[in-house]
Amino acid sequence: MKAGQIYKQFRTKKDKIVTLRAIQWEDLDGALEFVNSLVDERNYDPDLGIILDKRQTLESEAEWLGQKVASIESGNQISVVAELDGKLVGNSEVERGRLTDEFYHGKLGIAVLKEYRDQGIGLEIMKTVVEQCRKAGLKTVELEVFATNPRAVHVYEAAGFREVGRIPKKIFRKGRHTDIIVMAIEL
Ligand SMILES: CC(C)(COP(=O)(O)OP(=O)(O)OC[C@H]1O[C@@H](n2cnc3c(N)ncnc32)[C@H](O)[C@@H]1OP(=O)(O)O)[C@@H](O)C(=O)NCCC(=O)NCCS
Repeated sequence: MKAGQIYKQFRTKKDKIVTLRAIQWEDLDGALEFVNSLVDERNYDPDLGIILDKRQTLESEAEWLGQKVASIESGNQISVVAELDGKLVGNSEVERGRLTDEFYHGKLGIAVLKEYRDQGIGLEIMKTVVEQCRKAGLKTVELEVFATNPRAVHVYEAAGFREVGRIPKKIFRKGRHTDIIVMAIEL
């Protein structure tokens, strides 16, 4: 996989054209805006299924993106971002197992910006990232989701993931524990 590689275009439920592609170095400003709007949302919405809790700086984001681009080019990560009217509105990545015994297994993360949810973008990202994982030779992918996040569970099931277990009380936020559902797909 190459950074910036385009996978497909589709129309959202609101008839907007979205491009799905791998992230690239030129996304630095958009990626910073994307991550910080999720962190801000997490800090006022105690139920948001995002655990990143610190705003990023241009420097920290540049370091993160540099490592990510290198990981994509070396085959250690599969990346799918969603771009709408030149703005980064969704992001997903699968980190391939680093140890030999887990080489055919990946761990997935995904988020879509608040204003762009429920328009079909998340499911298209999921289907595309699964397809890219299959192409990369992965055999299984896992993800974790808050048990209080029925929308995300719905999207993951639509993409072929199934619940394989739960971790009671894994999340502790604002004085409250939340269970985690572990989901997986066999490719
Ligand atoms: C989870 C997330 C990635 C899904 O992306 P999205 O673009 O909103 O997803 P889509 O628009 O493709 O699909 C949303 C689906 O959930 C359904 N949905 C919405 N609210 C729901 C609810 N409370 N319960 C069940 N389903 C719900 C919608 O009807 C739609 O399904 P349909 O197409 O069958 O009608 C996105 O909502 C998000 O980033 N949420 C906040 C962060 C987060 O939770 N990330 C996941 C961490 S594990």
